Amino acid sequence: MKPYLSLSYFFVICFGLTCLTSCQTKRPAIPKDLAKQQVIPKLVSVIPTGSSYEINNNTSIQYQSEKLQPVADYLAKMLRPVTGFELPVKMKDSKPSSNYIYLTLTDSISTDEGYKLETKESGVEIKASKPVGVFYGVQTLRQLLPASIETGAKITDTLLVATGVIKDNPTYGYRGAMLDVSRHFFGVEDVKRYIDLLSIYKMNRLHLHLTDDQGWRIEIKSWPKLTEIGGSTSIDSTKGGFYTQEQYKDIVKYAQKRFITIVPEIDLPGHTNAALASYPELNCDGVAPKLYHGTKVGFSSLCIDKEITYKFIDDVIGELAAITPGEYIHIGGDESHATSPEDYVYFIDKAQEIVNKHGKKVIGWDEVAHAKLLPNTIVQFWSRKGENAVEGVEKGAKILMSPAPKLYFDMKYDSITRVGQNWAGYIKVEDAYSWDLETYQEGIAKENILGIEAPLWTEYVQTMDDIEHLVFPRIMGVAEMGWTPASQRNWDEYKVRLGNHKDRLDALDIDYYASTFVPWRSKTNQETSNTKE
Ligand code: ACM
Repeated sequence: MKPYLSLSYFFVICFGLTCLTSCQTKRPAIPKDLAKQQVIPKLVSVIPTGSSYEINNNTSIQYQSEKLQPVADYLAKMLRPVTGFELPVKMKDSKPSSNYIYLTLTDSISTDEGYKLETKESGVEIKASKPVGVFYGVQTLRQLLPASIETGAKITDTLLVATGVIKDNPTYGYRGAMLDVSRHFFGVEDVKRYIDLLSIYKMNRLHLHLTDDQGWRIEIKSWPKLTEIGGSTSIDSTKGGFYTQEQYKDIVKYAQKRFITIVPEIDLPGHTNAALASYPELNCDGVAPKLYHGTKVGFSSLCIDKEITYKFIDDVIGELAAITPGEYIHIGGDESHATSPEDYVYFIDKAQEIVNKHGKKVIGWDEVAHAKLLPNTIVQFWSRKGENAVEGVEKGAKILMSPAPKLYFDMKYDSITRVGQNWAGYIKVEDAYSWDLETYQEGIAKENILGIEAPLWTEYVQTMDDIEHLVFPRIMGVAEMGWTPASQRNWDEYKVRLGNHKDRLDALDIDYYASTFVPWRSKTNQETSNTKE
């Protein structure tokens, strides 16, 4: 053998040996198995297969039906700025052979919101019967990726997805939050941020409490003084605000893209001082009261006997229904202590008819159960005693579960929480999570329940930080209660998964309440998802 040949063999062998060791260690390590990931709401079924797929600069996002293009674009927009990858979005009839995120519609999944997410070494496939299911699959994929993707800033982390098959679908079709924009007003950007955060946890309704004694927050073109006068202040007497119809439509559209339906509320016949202050003719004595900046409830009422009251409601609901694609309009109905019981029932009966005439179904706070309920009216259980909601069940209504001692997130976590109140008690993160919708109230069974909603009243809530501090992390537990069967949930397991969200909540810049009962773990003190078992 010539000396130079033997030298080259030597180099080839050395390179081979080096590669066997160092090339192997450079391969993506296998992430911890899927079941140990930090997904909230808890995935219904997970079969890990022990390997990984890496999203990289050659990954493409492909979709099989035109209907999925917005979801594909949403995913690309989320990942492009943080990764710097091109991530081309293309339509394709069949699954690509390698390095894909493939979104597809199929008849083989029977639920509207369910999905299947299958990750192989070649890529990720998300299948559902409807675009909403694919969107939820995308939210799961998002939570399987490093928390750093949430910062919006360029990252250097490797984007590994553990291989396996996830099958997931929600228990309840209504998984919501309510935001009171009347007592304090929150602008379009704050509402959009809340929508973005809710969508990560697969929530699908945002109920906006648009009117109350302290402020009227939606433009009604046929009654312009409602916003001119009634929208000019709030509990903070110097600050008002309202959404123009264009702004409201923008919120609705933004929410729709995240598969969240806006449920608007016009609180009637009480909680109406802002309207009564705007139009003297809505008052029985024809005299407009002053604008109200306090925190009392139960002192105002529309004039039940006047015809103009029903013209007013017809106009307001008509304009609102025309810009609300969702099926529900909420008519309030709570704490109408200034309306006699007979007048109340008469009024709620008429209000339901008006809402139905405009093609929408009614949701009302649980006092509406005293009226003759129309077959499609939903009763929202909030009061500390459940008898109103049970009356609703007896009259055939479905119940939206929001019992104050569990889900009123304006309640503080404990005595030293920096914002909030405590008339329904303190609600620790565990208290909000560790109960079952199906057993909470005798007389309300699973088949009577439409879903779950966590209200946030804003008498003492003034800023987006206040909202986030009261709502996070309790709202994540609500998302899970609406999604994951009660039999698969328990606090001891949940609190670990919640604790693993620390980096994600930080990356999202959420001002969450870091309960000492939750084992918060950041990547620096936990095994990272890139660590081999
Ligand atoms: C309510 O808390 N008044 C519904």
